[in-house]
Amino acid sequence: MSRYLVTSALPYANGPLHIGHLAGAYLPADIYVRYLRLTGEDVLYVCGSDEHGVPITLRARKEGISPQQVVDKYHGIIKKSFEDFGISFDIYHRTSEKIHHETAQEFFKILYDKKILIEEESEQYYDEEAKMFLADRYITGTCPNCGNENAYGDQCERCGKSLSPRDLINPHSQLSGKPPVLKKTKHWYLPLDKMQKEWLQKWIESKKDEWKINVYGQCKSWLDQGLQPRAVTRDLDWGVKVPLPNTEGKVLYVWFDAPIGYISATKALTKDWKKYWQDKDARLIHFIGKDNIVFHCIIFPAMLKAHGEFIIPENVPANEFLNLEGDKISTSRNYAVWLNEYLEDFPAKKDELRYVLTSIAPETKDSDFSWKDYQARVNNELVATFGNFVNRTLVLTQKYCENKVPQHDKPTDKDEECIVAIKKAKKKISECIEQFRFREALAELIDLSRAGNKYLAETEPWKIANDNLERVNTILYVSLEVVAYLAVLAEPFLPGTSTKILRMLNIQKPEWKNLEGKILVPGNSLGQSELLFPKIEDAEIEKQIQKLHSTKNMSEAKSEIQNPKSEIAGKPEVTYDEFTKMDLRIATILTAERVPQTDKLLKLTLDTGNEHRTVVSGIAKDYEPETIIGQKVLLLANLAPRKIKGIESRGMILMAENSKGELSFVAPTKDSENGSTVK
Ligand code: MF3
Ligand code: ZN
Repeated sequence: MSRYLVTSALPYANGPLHIGHLAGAYLPADIYVRYLRLTGEDVLYVCGSDEHGVPITLRARKEGISPQQVVDKYHGIIKKSFEDFGISFDIYHRTSEKIHHETAQEFFKILYDKKILIEEESEQYYDEEAKMFLADRYITGTCPNCGNENAYGDQCERCGKSLSPRDLINPHSQLSGKPPVLKKTKHWYLPLDKMQKEWLQKWIESKKDEWKINVYGQCKSWLDQGLQPRAVTRDLDWGVKVPLPNTEGKVLYVWFDAPIGYISATKALTKDWKKYWQDKDARLIHFIGKDNIVFHCIIFPAMLKAHGEFIIPENVPANEFLNLEGDKISTSRNYAVWLNEYLEDFPAKKDELRYVLTSIAPETKDSDFSWKDYQARVNNELVATFGNFVNRTLVLTQKYCENKVPQHDKPTDKDEECIVAIKKAKKKISECIEQFRFREALAELIDLSRAGNKYLAETEPWKIANDNLERVNTILYVSLEVVAYLAVLAEPFLPGTSTKILRMLNIQKPEWKNLEGKILVPGNSLGQSELLFPKIEDAEIEKQIQKLHSTKNMSEAKSEIQNPKSEIAGKPEVTYDEFTKMDLRIATILTAERVPQTDKLLKLTLDTGNEHRTVVSGIAKDYEPETIIGQKVLLLANLAPRKIKGIESRGMILMAENSKGELSFVAPTKDSENGSTVK
């Protein structure tokens, strides 16, 4: 027997959960631990809300409430969703608890006392009006790489370059809108560079064939870039206070305290917590999404090792991302299927969602959830295959066997085939789960019910009921055994369904490890049969699709107001930034003359407000030079200069062209000064 400590990423308590969360870090972990428990392993599954960090303080500012109120609200919503979906944590804790603050502070203090942390003073941006140091995300400015004026202090979202706040040109605080000032501040750093050389690199490389390739690959690329010392404290007043004298206004960095949340949750659960964290035989497994890889594979192990008394993770089976109807799930755009809303619309259909999310889990690459696919999988696989087989077997047993487990004869070859299918499914499902291949495991489960259906179709007990009841009894006995196995094997994936089937069979849950031969005892009465899965109707799906479209349209309408789209048919869309690159101004024509040996061109002198400049324009067919002196025009002033018929033309005047090809001036209707900008 092994001892396991399994964790799922602590979700931020700043919003409800959606299907992407469930598919990424919670369902797979839940399947895994339910399986381990069935096989009799000693396992603890811990999680909790991640209640610190800047996003929570910002959300509080936005909603006009305190950070504590924010986390109280979302902790409640999140915890409820996990319960509703049967995520079987042994404890769902929270990082605002006292025991967590103490545990995290003690952890920090040990690294400090062991002189592992580097203490360093540096200059960081400070908002004098908000009176606080600014987290990287709260500083925006111009990207030095691409000129985007709204780049963040940690990254430019336009060109993707990762930045530090000092790289930004013309930085602004997101809090006050003012330019921040540089101010000295002291922080503590984890020397990852040193640890890389000492052991981290070797340790990660030793996991090459054991960890998923996506996980190993990401770690390797961090290592290849060379790890840097990483600050583990921040200037902020929300979080775990730095446990040192004279550190007012300083807290532990949220990514330092949050994973320690796994430890404090275990402490809160059992006084035997050290058996799971500090015994070299214990196995630590972290389930996370891919955006958390570096923290769980590099930084947290570095912290644990530096502390000295802890084990480090054996595996970190991170998932990729789940998309929704071909688009990224987005909390800020409200584009998601929220777990709390799903259950309002589909009460009692938690197993259906667990089923679909597991069968499309983004195990090796990003995957997509769509409502039509959800409907098809539920109706074809759960209703028509799995549910149908269980239902048929139970109905036939009622009909021919007085709703009791029948006696059976020696099995025929056909019966043996079916019994072999059971054994094979059980073995395959175990192997797959142990290797974190949950999609495949689930497919095996459905295959077993398919084999059951095939067995019934081939043996046709209803046809021989009149003249060979013994044979019917045997067939139904074998079928009922398949049903019983399905109940046990389904438990990790579909716990509600498993309980229902066991109730229908009128048996207790057998332990997986004792599942060798027969589960059912002939002569025992069965319970009442219930429908396992109702069919999902088109109307229910349409409603969900509509709902998604309307949130999408709403957020597109919003962004349309901020960023009007080009209406010109046939031209590709331009970004607002591209548009603002054009220097459009009002100017007045001072002189105009024909360009010799052409019939289209006029040479114009324009008053642009601060200079006179020459522009060559192809309007001679539409306008006589004398008639346009004094005309206001719209000038594209920063068009690259061009030589036309030997004349340098600096800019272009903009003309409207009708369907006959006639040109007319585009000019302001009110008097505008020369040099007025147009936007
Ligand atoms: N709150 C983080 C997120 O949602 C995950 C924290 S995991 C932990 O991305 F290890 F730090 F707890
Ligand atoms: Zn950029």
